[in-house]
Amino acid sequence: MKIRKYEKKDFDKVRNICLTNADITQDNQKVAEFILLMFCDYYIKEEPECCFVAVDDDDNPVGYVYGTFDYDKYHKTFMERYYPKIKTISLKRAIAAKIEMRDHAVYKEEYPAHFHIDVLKSNQSGGLGSKLLTEFCEYLKGRGSKGVMMICGKDNTGAQRFYKKNGFDTLHTKRTGVAMGKKFNTK
Ligand SMILES: CC(C)(COP(=O)(O)OP(=O)(O)OC[C@H]1O[C@@H](n2cnc3c(N)ncnc32)[C@H](O)[C@@H]1OP(=O)(O)O)[C@@H](O)C(=O)NCCC(=O)NCCS
Repeated sequence: MKIRKYEKKDFDKVRNICLTNADITQDNQKVAEFILLMFCDYYIKEEPECCFVAVDDDDNPVGYVYGTFDYDKYHKTFMERYYPKIKTISLKRAIAAKIEMRDHAVYKEEYPAHFHIDVLKSNQSGGLGSKLLTEFCEYLKGRGSKGVMMICGKDNTGAQRFYKKNGFDTLHTKRTGVAMGKKFNTK
C-alpha cells in the first residue's frame, strides 16, 4: 500500500469508498446524494490538491483523506455550489449541513483546515489511516496552516481513539458530534 496525491481518475472510486463506509446502498438515492454533496464532492472537485489516497498494488484507492485548507474559502464555495442542491433534497438535511458548518466556523481562526478520512473495512487497523493523516498534516504544515480540526460522530469512539492517537485534542462534545483539533507549530 502506498499514499499518493488524488488524481481525477480516482473520482468514482473515492466517492464509492465514501458511500460504502457510510453504509449507503444505491437504492437509497437521496441519502447517497446528500452524503456525496456534504462529505465528498466539494473536496475532490474544488480542492483536489488537498486530497490524498491510499492505493493497493493495482493503484486502486482503498482509503482517502481530503479536506479544505481554509474554512472561509470552503464556506463561500460550498454555500454557492453545494448547499442549494442539499436544500432541494431535504430541508432537514440542509439544517444538518448548517449545523456542521457552524461547528467548524467556531474554530476557524485557530484551526482553519478541516478534513474527512475513510479507509475500507478490509484495510483498517493496519496503520493506513495514520499514514494518510500524517501525509495530510505534513501537507498543511508545508503550506503554513495554523491547525486542523474535524467533527466526528458522538458514538464513533473508535475514530475518536484514532484521532487521539494521532495527536488531536477534544475541542467540544455535543449531541451533533465531537470536535477534535490539532495545532501546528509554524515557527
Ligand atoms: C478511522 C479510520 C480512518 C482509521 O484508519 P485505520 O487505518 O483503521 O487507522 P490506523 O490503523 O492507523 O489506527 C488504528 C487505531 O485507530 C483506532 N480505531 C479506529 N477505528 C477503530 C474501530 N472501529 N475500533 C477500534 N479502534 C479503532 C484504534 O485506536 C486503533 O488503534 P489500535 O489498532 O492500536 O487499536 C478507519 O478506521 C475508518 O475509515 N473507519 C470508518 C470510517 C470512520 O469512522 N471515519 C472517520 C469519521 S470521523
